[in-house]
Amino acid sequence: MGSKDYDSSRKPSHQHAATRSKIKILLLLVLTNALSIFLFSGSGSVFGVKFWRYTPSVHVWDSEKLMLELNTTRARLSDSQSQLSALRNQLSTANSLLETLIADAKSSDQGSNNKQTGMWAREPSEELKLAMGPHKLPLGFTPNLGSDELFPTLGQACHKFQDELEKYLDYPVGGECFSDDIFAQRLMLKGCEPLPRRRCKPPTPAGYVEPHPYPESLWSIPPDTSITWDPYTCKNYACLVDRGNHPGSYDCKDCFNLFGREKDRWMRETSELDYSIDAVLALKPKGTIRIGLDIGGGSGTFAARMSERNITIVTTSMNFDGPFNSFIAARGLISMHLSVAHRLPFFDNTLDIVHSMHVLSNWIPDVMLEFALYDIYRVLRPGGLFWLDHFFCIGTQLNSTYVPIFDRIGFKQLRWNAGRKLDRGFEMNEWYLSALLEKPMN
Ligand SMILES: *[C@@H]1O[C@H](CO)[C@@H](O)[C@H](O)[C@H]1NC(C)=O
Ligand SMILES: *[C@@H]1O[C@H](CO)[C@@H](O)[C@H](O)[C@H]1NC(C)=O
Ligand SMILES: *[C@@H]1O[C@H](CO)[C@@H](O)[C@H](O)[C@H]1NC(C)=O
Repeated sequence: MGSKDYDSSRKPSHQHAATRSKIKILLLLVLTNALSIFLFSGSGSVFGVKFWRYTPSVHVWDSEKLMLELNTTRARLSDSQSQLSALRNQLSTANSLLETLIADAKSSDQGSNNKQTGMWAREPSEELKLAMGPHKLPLGFTPNLGSDELFPTLGQACHKFQDELEKYLDYPVGGECFSDDIFAQRLMLKGCEPLPRRRCKPPTPAGYVEPHPYPESLWSIPPDTSITWDPYTCKNYACLVDRGNHPGSYDCKDCFNLFGREKDRWMRETSELDYSIDAVLALKPKGTIRIGLDIGGGSGTFAARMSERNITIVTTSMNFDGPFNSFIAARGLISMHLSVAHRLPFFDNTLDIVHSMHVLSNWIPDVMLEFALYDIYRVLRPGGLFWLDHFFCIGTQLNSTYVPIFDRIGFKQLRWNAGRKLDRGFEMNEWYLSALLEKPMN
């Protein structure tokens, strides 16, 4: 899909040719279909080809006659077969001719609306066209791109949400962006990930102050003036910190309370499913776990604990009913706004550790989960660790679905603990799996 495809000034050039080819196509379609009907309806003869239909009237004791009949039969059958194969060849020639004609008609059919808008329901807005490109590289510029155009990245499902995408791209160029992050994130979650870039600036939170200095920032609640609260139910951090004490279901409900449960996470092994960071690190030579990733890392506490051990962890997060990404960044940690569906933006064989708690679980469709696990394997360096922390599933799924996936991928098990969920989940046969998996060195 080139930008030229939107050039509406181009007029239909061969309208008559197109009409002629359409008639030809129609005729050919009728012919081919008639042929197929004859061939498969069991008619005895098509275009002079005699199809052999014969019921042998011989007795088993007349073996010589039987042989003769069989030989005759074989000969006739092989004759029919060769005629059939000749017919098939003719048919396939007709088919490729048809394909060529269709392609021909398509390329000369510039008037068609479909050709102009591609996958979009209608002509995209000017800013959308610019945002998605492609854009021609300067003449004579021959980089190792294998193309003379650059395509900005855009999630494959974006075209299904043209209205929302155009709203997202509706701003005065150079001015302030439409500010609802949650609106943009909803687009990402529907498969429009990555979102296109924009030519506007996010609103600056009023009264912004410098962040807390590191390392105090790791365990400090950021100032309320560090973000814009409009999209969220809570309008300040005190509300977010407190929401763990209130009814209601939120994602990572008590994650913002850095002085409650968050403080103890990964510090002690309180059950066989709870591994401690120090026990995990002790399995590898000292200092060899240096960089890594926490997938769906809540408020960033895993990265904070790793940071205290001089290990750099990138935390991916979505802002589900809370400004998780801003919170992580305010703690002095690296947040990455990425859904679990996104290919991990790291090179092959690079990370020392990948951790994920709760997020990778049975809510992810099996096929997507398998792709995600292969992607984790890909970015881990040989000898790198994948810490699957509290993977949730139903007991029967564990051995029937998930263990085979892990076996296929080829991780080495260093630790593996499955345990029934103790609360309400007990009757429902809900299980957690915690595992420490290593990418083999060879
Ligand atoms: C049938 O054909 C085979 C070889 O094609 C030949 O050896 C055999 O004698 C034939 N049988 C009769 C009954 O003609
Ligand atoms: C982290 O690095 C600093 C500076 O190199 C060092 O002083 C400190 O002891 C390290 N901390 C740990 C837990 O290794
Ligand atoms: C899965 O299989 C293992 C080994 O066969 C068995 O010990 C375990 O109980 C099974 N787990 C579940 C949840 O059924």
